[in-house]
Amino acid sequence: MTATIIDGKAFAAKTRQHVAEYVSTIKTERHEAPGLAVVLVGEDPASQVYVRNKGTQTVEVGMESFEYKLDANTSQSDLVALIEKLNADPKVHGILVQLPLPPHLNSDLVINTIDPAKDVDGFHISNVGLLGTGQKSMVPCTPLGCLMMLRDHHGSLAGMNAVVVGRSNIVGKPMAQLLLGDSCTVTIAHSKTKDLGAVCRSADILVAAVGRPEMVTGDWVKPGATVIDVGINRIERDGKMKLVGDVHYESAAKVAGAITPVPGGVGPMTIACLLANTLTAYCRAKGLPEPVGLTA
Ligand code: GUN
Repeated sequence: MTATIIDGKAFAAKTRQHVAEYVSTIKTERHEAPGLAVVLVGEDPASQVYVRNKGTQTVEVGMESFEYKLDANTSQSDLVALIEKLNADPKVHGILVQLPLPPHLNSDLVINTIDPAKDVDGFHISNVGLLGTGQKSMVPCTPLGCLMMLRDHHGSLAGMNAVVVGRSNIVGKPMAQLLLGDSCTVTIAHSKTKDLGAVCRSADILVAAVGRPEMVTGDWVKPGATVIDVGINRIERDGKMKLVGDVHYESAAKVAGAITPVPGGVGPMTIACLLANTLTAYCRAKGLPEPVGLTA
């Protein structure tokens, strides 16, 4: 069997188009646009690239983008004061603080200063609690993107065995909650799981989010399973830098029914879902119907 490739790049473009159409209607009918504020502290090169891409794509779908680039030495109180100002700003409907923050800053405290209704990352403790109890919340972008691709590929996920490898707060745990919300039977596996290969082989849906290059090989994949690779690892091979996922693509693609590639799979969906979340936050703030197909 050769797996169907789930084209995240194309799906992200479709999602952005969907968002752009909603935004266009909002602008025509309400003469305003949803706004997203992104806060970057320090000069981490990877974070700078992400923030630039977020800003560009925000403007491309017709939303307002507000970027705040703060010095690496910014104090906790100055950062909190900025977030409080953005919380009160009626033109800002979504706030994202790029992580990781420099070590002198308390990320939990900073994130929990964001108004939960504007927390487009879904990292605020009240959004985490709402998701965990199956209530309406802001949902972290990467797992939301995975869920959207899975729903698009399968339709209903009810009754499927899902294994999520990785237990991070950003991907693994919310991914498991979302799959549970769609009535999968969910296992969260991790580095201490006994016989990880056997656990993975039980999965109809296998989500790899461990941050270990090519750890999940074809012999861990159940024939016909859907494999979602969240990993983005830069490795050196044959003297060149290469981007690989947490899944060994070549061997897994021979066994899986469907698979997301790296690059071009989950990655592009993350920013698309950030834009979707900003639109959702705007609609909720204004009491408008939520955008169809862009939420959990
Ligand atoms: N850094 C890496 N991924 C993310 C993300 O999804 N959100 C934020 N805020 N920072 C990140």
